[in-house]
Amino acid sequence: MSDKKQLVSDTVNHYSRDGFVGTGAHTTRPHYVPSYSKIEGDYAPYRLEFSSQNGKVHDPQSHDPSIPLLSGDGVVVSILRAPEPVPVTVKNVTSDEVHYLVAGSGTLKSDFGSFDCQAGDFILVPRAAGYRYTEVNIPIESIVVSTAGELSVDPFPPRGVLNMGSAVTEPKIGDMPLQTGNIFETVFKHLGGTTSHFYDFDPLDIETIAGSSPVKKFSIHDVLTLNVSEGGITPPRLINDNSGQTLFFHLGSRQSDRPPIHVNADYDELIVYASGPGSYGSMDVPGTIAWVPKGIPHHGAEENTPEPYQAWLVETRASLQLTAEGRSIAKLMETGVYGLKDG
Ligand SMILES: [Fe+2]
Repeated sequence: MSDKKQLVSDTVNHYSRDGFVGTGAHTTRPHYVPSYSKIEGDYAPYRLEFSSQNGKVHDPQSHDPSIPLLSGDGVVVSILRAPEPVPVTVKNVTSDEVHYLVAGSGTLKSDFGSFDCQAGDFILVPRAAGYRYTEVNIPIESIVVSTAGELSVDPFPPRGVLNMGSAVTEPKIGDMPLQTGNIFETVFKHLGGTTSHFYDFDPLDIETIAGSSPVKKFSIHDVLTLNVSEGGITPPRLINDNSGQTLFFHLGSRQSDRPPIHVNADYDELIVYASGPGSYGSMDVPGTIAWVPKGIPHHGAEENTPEPYQAWLVETRASLQLTAEGRSIAKLMETGVYGLKDG
């Protein structure tokens, strides 16, 4: 990269409406705006890391196995740890959910069958579909993004991002013997809290299914990389929201110019580092979330890295706020390479 190109890359500031698709304006500035000296108040960029040493491990007495970190306007970002099979079935009747497995492997049983899942998998669970982890081979750590809008696997551009025929899979009716003699608890997550319904049979058991399962899965490792030989290119969309509130994009390494410094006027951004060996900026721990609330200047990290990495991006019109649990693990972040501020 020439010095001239580096200079442009470092000083052009892009102001955008409607994320990647709206109108915008470019400015140049004499200063590197992502470098703030300090922040007084709560409206700030944060890094959230939830390694086993951080935050609360799931309380077995809790009826809801997920722990919200960020929430607002119908969108909730939670972590869900399953070090062992989860005894309760969860049914979220206010939101669709995307589960991203940061680590682990196991079997998820749902209202529409079961499938094996492992680190790197995105699992879509629509509103009012029950699910629970029935087998855990390696302790599971996942990030769950729940939205009021209906979510679907909907790559854009429609070709060249994800092979919908082979990469997107649906659960199968399991061949496990029916369990009887136990009490099965279903936790309804509803407006205002949770309510448990109890059965003396497993309500997730099914005998037949016709049509397409609304529970679906694909792996970040099956996302195809879009490269350009010159200039930059916007990240490809993976998951769409029919309300337009919350969108999911792939942010893995690729040949493309470094994105500009930019201000996203309409979307909070969540960058999730998924796996290496390369890093995204200074992010190199799987499951690390970099949260940039709307309007805060930030600089997209270099994507054309010496070693590959996987990451993904959530853009949401929701104005998120830290929960008490989120605040307990959030650390102030700079927005040049998403490292810890003063650290
Ligand atoms: Fe951004």
